[in-house]
Amino acid sequence: MIKAPTARLDRLLANLGYGTRREVQGLIGAGRVLLDGKTLRDIGQRLPVTADLAQRMTVRGAPLDPPSPLTLIIHKPLGVVCSHREAGRSLYELLPDRWRARDPVLSTIGRLDADTSGLLLITDDGGLLHRVISPRNHVAKRYHVTLDRPLEGGEAALFAAGTLVLEGDTAPLAPARLEPLAATTAYLTITEGRYHQVRRMFAAVGNHVTGLHRDRMGGLDLPGDLTPGAFRISTESEIAALFAGK
Ligand code: URA
Repeated sequence: MIKAPTARLDRLLANLGYGTRREVQGLIGAGRVLLDGKTLRDIGQRLPVTADLAQRMTVRGAPLDPPSPLTLIIHKPLGVVCSHREAGRSLYELLPDRWRARDPVLSTIGRLDADTSGLLLITDDGGLLHRVISPRNHVAKRYHVTLDRPLEGGEAALFAAGTLVLEGDTAPLAPARLEPLAATTAYLTITEGRYHQVRRMFAAVGNHVTGLHRDRMGGLDLPGDLTPGAFRISTESEIAALFAGK
């Protein structure tokens, strides 16, 4: 069995965003931190950091926030940006305030444009983040695309050929799968994550994307119960599904 890492109580709470080391030491001193119903008093006590701490520990009477590693599935709504640096309402504002003060920080696995909705993962697990975005792992991303003009018929073969070079790029795109649904709607599945890739692919064939929604990554579908803006902690099987393909 893999042994859980341990952390000092005061550092654990500070890293989960409960305050500075001094502030959380105050909380512990005031008897506001309990484990299995017993008050913890020793700020330097080392605890195994296991996922069940969220059920066993309370801070000010409320369950402890989920410890790291934490991965969330979120239904990104339209109109929010994924990067801390971009102007506009940030996706991170949808998370509880305290979660924005965590160390390690929560970041999105890849990005969706402000005008794109759908399946997005947020994690503080750097290893997972790199496994998902690494081109070597070919995690496919499926988008439901709505177009300004009807498809002409040659797009699927062009996208599948792996020869299309987008404006401003030097390397051709990897093959992508286009599945037309109606004259102006289709699924497009890509394995790369170039800047504005889907929009630029359709611009390259003289069309214009008017709606973009990601509904699948690898073998993981956007859960039907997640409304735009909603998120939840992902399960291990959902993470495994990312690498399972579909
Ligand atoms: N391609 C785009 O153009 N935008 C996205 O948000 C994702 C893929």
